[in-house]
Amino acid sequence: MNGNLDFVEFSPPWSETIDDLIVSASLVPPRDPKSAGITHIDFDGLLTPPLQLKEDLKEGCGGQLWPAGMLLASYMLRNHSSDLRGKTIVELGAGGGVVGLAVAKGCSIDSLIYLTDQMPMLALMEENVRLNGLAHIVQPLVLDWGEPLPPQIPSFPDIILAADCVYFEPAFPLLLSTLTDLLGPASLCYFCFKKRRRADLRFMKQAKKLFDVTEITNDKETDTHRRESIFLYRIRKRYNKNI
Ligand SMILES: C[S@@+](CC[C@H](N)C(=O)[O-])C[C@H]1O[C@@H](n2cnc3c(N)ncnc32)[C@H](O)[C@@H]1O
Repeated sequence: MNGNLDFVEFSPPWSETIDDLIVSASLVPPRDPKSAGITHIDFDGLLTPPLQLKEDLKEGCGGQLWPAGMLLASYMLRNHSSDLRGKTIVELGAGGGVVGLAVAKGCSIDSLIYLTDQMPMLALMEENVRLNGLAHIVQPLVLDWGEPLPPQIPSFPDIILAADCVYFEPAFPLLLSTLTDLLGPASLCYFCFKKRRRADLRFMKQAKKLFDVTEITNDKETDTHRRESIFLYRIRKRYNKNI
């Protein structure tokens, strides 16, 4: 697989609540849910050898590749391959870990990258770290949004990565709370999401009240994906200029 984002999305088999069902209905319904397997991703030649990513949906939606994750990984490889040394990096809602692993493999870094997600995703993140021989530089951890940060996470990391984390409205305040905990004076969050429902824009509206949010628009690939409702933002801690 290359950097092409035209892959099929499908209704998650783990939908249980009404809200989940609404999310499912906004995606293309499945005929034949993808079985577990390893995908090779080279991001149009940016990664040699390619990233190997196990996809397995048995533990949840993070077990497959998502379009915003592909775009954010590609953006980081194209724009930040050589300016991340000395930076602490944390990924939120990492799923199988595509963004953090791509950064670990294709960007010059010298500190651990923390891939985080809920407990059911831990084994998949660990397996993908192993598959790519990145255990020396990538540490998967459980981080539930809205909960206290795990002690291993550096306070106020320099870079926070979050892709396709906006899709379940009850989780919006939890994600905002975790972003509030993580964003320090020098932190920068690259936040990429695909808008599927009107509620997704409500998330960005709330985020703009709490943080400094700037859309990244001067990038050929992100501009193209904007037409598919995939948006990439820089989020920083907000300072009240009147204080
Ligand atoms: C749509 S997937 C995106 C996965 C990956 N970032 C990508 O782009 O391929 C959303 C991820 O957010 C995680 N997630 C959802 N709610 C969460 C929560 N409350 N705390 C932590 N992670 C959560 C899910 O487990 C899932 O892995």
